[in-house]
Amino acid sequence: MGRAFVYVIVGGGVAAGYAALEFTRKGVSDGELCIISDEPVAPYERPALSKGFLLPEDPTRLPSFHTCVGANDEILTPKWYKEHGIELVLGTRVKSVDARRLTLVTSTGETITYNFLIIATGARALKLEEFGVEGSDAENVCYLRDLSDADRLATAIQSSSNGNAVVIGGGYIGMECAASLVINKINVTMVLAGAHCMARLFTPKIATFYEDYYMGKGVKFIKGTVLTSFEFDSDKKVTAVNLKDGNQLPADLVVVGIGIRPNISLFEGQLIIEKGGIKVNSQMQSSESSVYAIGDVATFPVKLYGEMRRLEHVDFARKSARHAVSAIMEPEKTGEFDYLPCFYSRFFAFSWQFYGDHVGEVVHFGEYEDGKVFGAYWVKEGHLVGCFLEGGTKEQYETISKATQLKPAVTDMEELEREGLGFTQTV
Ligand code: FDA
Repeated sequence: MGRAFVYVIVGGGVAAGYAALEFTRKGVSDGELCIISDEPVAPYERPALSKGFLLPEDPTRLPSFHTCVGANDEILTPKWYKEHGIELVLGTRVKSVDARRLTLVTSTGETITYNFLIIATGARALKLEEFGVEGSDAENVCYLRDLSDADRLATAIQSSSNGNAVVIGGGYIGMECAASLVINKINVTMVLAGAHCMARLFTPKIATFYEDYYMGKGVKFIKGTVLTSFEFDSDKKVTAVNLKDGNQLPADLVVVGIGIRPNISLFEGQLIIEKGGIKVNSQMQSSESSVYAIGDVATFPVKLYGEMRRLEHVDFARKSARHAVSAIMEPEKTGEFDYLPCFYSRFFAFSWQFYGDHVGEVVHFGEYEDGKVFGAYWVKEGHLVGCFLEGGTKEQYETISKATQLKPAVTDMEELEREGLGFTQTV
């Protein structure tokens, strides 16, 4: 025996929360919508876990960062879902889905049927074991994807004060966690496989600025190498990490941020998969017409670049969720999803945003020396396609976002460099 809903969202993360808000705005009725999540709490703003959550004083805790605090909308607490007649099934994993027959089975053995399914299962952190390194289940080795990981890391931080941490990976998880560890008075060494931090996005000049700042805070960088094994004590706690370059680093705490994989296994063999995600069209609709995919798990057409992409960023999770709900509930009013890729991060007192595509030639602008407001443009085939800005105001971020979307012509790179941020105001 089981229940039936008109709409079911599998996964209860960022995208699910924003989809729920949009459903209520479009007028969902009591008992029509169900969200099933294996996490024990209502959807929350995941980026908080590597930022305010890890602070030593007055750390951010639920319910203050439930969705949709990021959009200055209401905070969707469990009470909100109840008041809006939305069934929130927490701490429950969806074990199988039959996308054709419109049914799924949960870990409690319940069968649930639906008219529309939205897949919002996000991604999981890649484990060291997947790269041949054993022992990452030790209590002082931490990953960071969900609230239980963040609780574990916060506890490990408390017991490592004045000790040594090794951060594996120089992406945004590594950079944000390293900053939080420093603020918690822990000595940090970052181990980067590439030549600099945020290697997929930052230019060497941008990376050098932030790395110099981190080094000024005592952070050491070891680059161009990877972790090969751990040393353990008799309690199976890690005491040191061994690197491929022969270095051995003492460690009271290890934080691993080496990438993610979308959670698509429920749908393999049932839906078309592309670039590691569930392929959707410009309505976020998968190869089965009643099944939609949003957030980290979706590979969608980026209209602006005429390409299929999968994005692992919170802005996309929020906007793709709204678009999918609109496409389901008001198909005739919903046009093609026209999304400008956007990504941001915050560490120490820094805050940056990136819009567009990071391909082509790069022009840097602004005051890299004083580190207040600076950035870079990416120019491809004579058009501005990407913009990075550190320290901008809300208005400046809006301006660069609008300008990047328009892909304005750039005829003179030197002129662009001289005009700097001012260029986007003239577009
Ligand atoms: P999300 O991962 O949020 O939710 C997926 C949910 O589905 C989870 O609750 C999961 O447990 C559940 N689930 C999976 N399989 C299931 C199953 N079979 N049954 C039931 N439930 C299931 N981005 C950015 O742009 N700027 C930033 O600063 C940051 N910072 C940041 C920090 C940290 C610590 C993380 C982990 C991530 C970020 N991000 C970010 C990325 C951003 O958080 C991410 O893109 C969104 O959370 C994606 O939202 P989704 O809803 O797609 O997945």
